Amino acid sequence: MLRSIAVLLLAAELAAAHADTVKGAVIFSRHGDRTWKGAPPTTLTAVGQQQLYNSSTYWRSRWLDSVSGYQIVNLSEDVYNSAQFSAATPDQPLLVTSGQVFLQGLYPPLNETSEHPLSGYQYVPLATIPSDSPASIWLKGDDGCPAYDDLADRWNSTAEFKALEASTKDFYLSFYDNIFAGVLPKSKLSYSNAYNIFDYVNVGMVHNKTISNSISQEELFQLRTLADSAEWAKAGAISSANDPLAVSGLTFSSKVLQQLQAIVDSKGTKNLLNVNIGSYDTMLSFFALAGLPSVNANFYGLPDYASTLAFELYSHTDAFPGDLSELKVRFLFRNGTDAPAESFRLFDSSTAALSWADFKAGMEKISLKSVEEWCAFCSSTEDYCLPYKQETRAVTKEVAGVIGAVVTLGVLIVAAVVAAVAGVRISRRTKLGSVAVIAGGKQFDEASSYAGSKL
Ligand SMILES: *[C@@H]1O[C@H](CO)[C@@H](O)[C@H](O)[C@H]1NC(C)=O
Ligand SMILES: *[C@@H]1O[C@H](CO)[C@@H](O)[C@H](O)[C@H]1NC(C)=O
Repeated sequence: MLRSIAVLLLAAELAAAHADTVKGAVIFSRHGDRTWKGAPPTTLTAVGQQQLYNSSTYWRSRWLDSVSGYQIVNLSEDVYNSAQFSAATPDQPLLVTSGQVFLQGLYPPLNETSEHPLSGYQYVPLATIPSDSPASIWLKGDDGCPAYDDLADRWNSTAEFKALEASTKDFYLSFYDNIFAGVLPKSKLSYSNAYNIFDYVNVGMVHNKTISNSISQEELFQLRTLADSAEWAKAGAISSANDPLAVSGLTFSSKVLQQLQAIVDSKGTKNLLNVNIGSYDTMLSFFALAGLPSVNANFYGLPDYASTLAFELYSHTDAFPGDLSELKVRFLFRNGTDAPAESFRLFDSSTAALSWADFKAGMEKISLKSVEEWCAFCSSTEDYCLPYKQETRAVTKEVAGVIGAVVTLGVLIVAAVVAAVAGVRISRRTKLGSVAVIAGGKQFDEASSYAGSKL
């Protein structure tokens, strides 16, 4: 009740204050409430589905409803139109399902019962991007990036880490008897496992009475804060705007810029709304790169389930401005699904209403613009990086002679055949030092299964 009054007041206030029209938008969403990451397969729960549905209905009422002061000009209100809309997710089941629910809320059924199945359910395509595709770098830039892994691995040799590991050991062990006996060994109950432990308890607070009855809000807060600091250390604690630790934010910024640029290039007629699904580490990296923690220290904390961040392109004119200096961008963040989205200043600028030119300049400074750049930045050994390898280029120049070329080709073919026969390749899905080898279609994880990508 209070919440809806607050939303109404805010809506009224905003409606009175603004006369902009939105020309297009890009949004990035975290998945919703799910089962514990430590016991795969991790699945979206009914609570999680509700959160994503809540979130997409929220954004629908902002960007698609004709009564909204923020309706995107030229965007089809009810019927999905492929020229205007895109949606993409890494092909991980939890993220794909989250994306599907999100799309259902954005474009609900059309209620045309006679001709269409499911009351006119709209089949809005969601691009699922496999981890071995070069396109995977935009929403999961830290996967398959050794430069990132090296830095993240160094975290547990820092003095801060060692101090916290020692000072929190008793706190973590105090949960063993009631919560973790039979779940995690005592040796794993420490700060080095902060996120995994918080995650188990946090999931239990929603789904397990034994846990919710025995953990106080204060304890949950402590566990969360420790997990916040551990995850920030691995995604947000950057030393400069091109720190490999923030690689997922660097590729994400580039994706956002590409998507907004496409709206500008079409003069606000195409690619108007772009939905991206991903994980919290990308959010943390972007927060760090964009200077958000200095605007609000809450950005050091893990975003709640189904949190969204969004970029709106707008201007004071109804028509798309011929003069691009009239175009502006605002950044919005909605933490979870309980409160409305708020806008925040990016890049330490004095205003949340950045000109398109300033926004672009700011984003370019925190972007890896191409797969080639990413491959070099990461020293990645992904297959799709091979064409960009320095050695390869040098060889290509040398083998101008036909014999050289034939020999090289022969070597490549032999290598390809050997690889195909053995059916062995290194998976890029693991990180933090663990190596998974996929052999004959089976995956053997040498470290804990928890070392997979952060969701
Ligand atoms: C609830 O949590 C307790 C404590 O960790 C655990 O022993 C129990 O198996 C959990 N129950 C379910 C249904 O997962
Ligand atoms: C989002 O909410 C969580 C708590 O639920 C908090 O720890 C975090 O700091 C919040 N982030 C922002 C940017 O408000």
